[in-house]
Amino acid sequence: MIRRSTDANVTETTLPASDLLPSVPLLALDRQYDALRDQIREAINRVCDSGRFVLGPDVAELEAELAKALDVPHVISCASGSDALLLALMAFGIGAGDEVIVPSYTFFATASAVTRLGAVPIFADIDPTTYLVDPRDVERKISTRTRAIVPVHLFGRTADMDALTPIAARAGIPIVEDAAQSILSTWHGRCSGSLGDVGCFSFYPTKNLGGAGDGGFLTTTRDDIAKSLKLLRVHGMEPRYYHEVIGINSRLDSIQAAVLRVKLPHLDTWTTARQVNAARYRDLFAEYDLASRVAVPGDEPRGRHVWNQFVVRVLGDERDALRAHLAKRGVGTEIYYPVPLHLQKCFTHLGWAKGDLPETERAAEQTIALPIFPELEAAEQRTVVARIAEFFGAERTETAAAKSALPMPHVLRRAVGKADDVRC
Ligand SMILES: Cc1ncc(COP(=O)(O)O)c(C=O)c1O
Repeated sequence: MIRRSTDANVTETTLPASDLLPSVPLLALDRQYDALRDQIREAINRVCDSGRFVLGPDVAELEAELAKALDVPHVISCASGSDALLLALMAFGIGAGDEVIVPSYTFFATASAVTRLGAVPIFADIDPTTYLVDPRDVERKISTRTRAIVPVHLFGRTADMDALTPIAARAGIPIVEDAAQSILSTWHGRCSGSLGDVGCFSFYPTKNLGGAGDGGFLTTTRDDIAKSLKLLRVHGMEPRYYHEVIGINSRLDSIQAAVLRVKLPHLDTWTTARQVNAARYRDLFAEYDLASRVAVPGDEPRGRHVWNQFVVRVLGDERDALRAHLAKRGVGTEIYYPVPLHLQKCFTHLGWAKGDLPETERAAEQTIALPIFPELEAAEQRTVVARIAEFFGAERTETAAAKSALPMPHVLRRAVGKADDVRC
């Protein structure tokens, strides 16, 4: 039975408050850095000593290592995930008058890559369970002007490529995968980024493979597109000072590549830790009578979900009050994303209105991201869920609690997040 508590008096959980941790960060990059500090500093020193700061051997090595890890023939690094999207659309010659179908429930860069080229983003709604673009809505929105589809593998789960691939094929247009949040996610055994025509990835520090600053890369199975991308990222210049096409300056710094090369060998282990954390959250939520309050995300049966974010839906209209309660209790959360792109002020001229994408709008009002990073400890997860239960006054059910064997130290002695600049 659920007894809803008022915010001033939320002490109803059956776990004593003394068993809960004083805070849990949304993300604690310092924990990852602690483990790799010496190797990362050595890698940075090596680049500084070499005097080669842009592209160079570390970038070439990183590209080769990523190609192997993702089992894709071409990896082309660039300056950010946003640039990766821009470069991909440029490689397909997308420009003024063209339409590109994108979800509205995503980070801004998915759509701004389209508008930066003078093309028009056509927003599609999402599936309410996975939060991924709804292929039926994509199909409805194909027109004679559509030049590409950009599905986003949001939160680390691959979009429904079984449904999207034939839609793109029928329309004769490419799929540009926005895989910024989904490195190492798979679909029927193949990595995201190798499923469509081009994949676009981000090395932003909060990503599953994050650098020490901005960075990104593209993947493709197509030789022609790989060639274009390599040209476009260096001002279309080949050979030096001769410009075949108009490109942009979007190269990966050698220091980023060197840092990322230290981290890449750990990515698979970190990804598994995220999966373990997601499964543990599901078990913890099941211990409480919360099903009518919070919808917890399931795993992806058709492939590997890499859990860049663990986003739950707060049923009803209490998401913001819950978030405020968690903030008071020291639990870090984030809203991805509070304003859908079709309702952003800068896109007013595109003519979209509230009500146009009902599932997207509902998700923006109800979802909240909980800590899921690989170094997150079981006791911290227990605190997060107990604090949520506390807000709703939800009982801990005897049978589920009895099954639980998670340790719960009174104080977890470790530094908490210095890395809460979490935007995408
Ligand atoms: C879905 C999505 N697309 C694109 C980007 C842009 O990547 P970047 O920040 O590296 O430019 C991000 C996040 O940053 C993202 O989450």
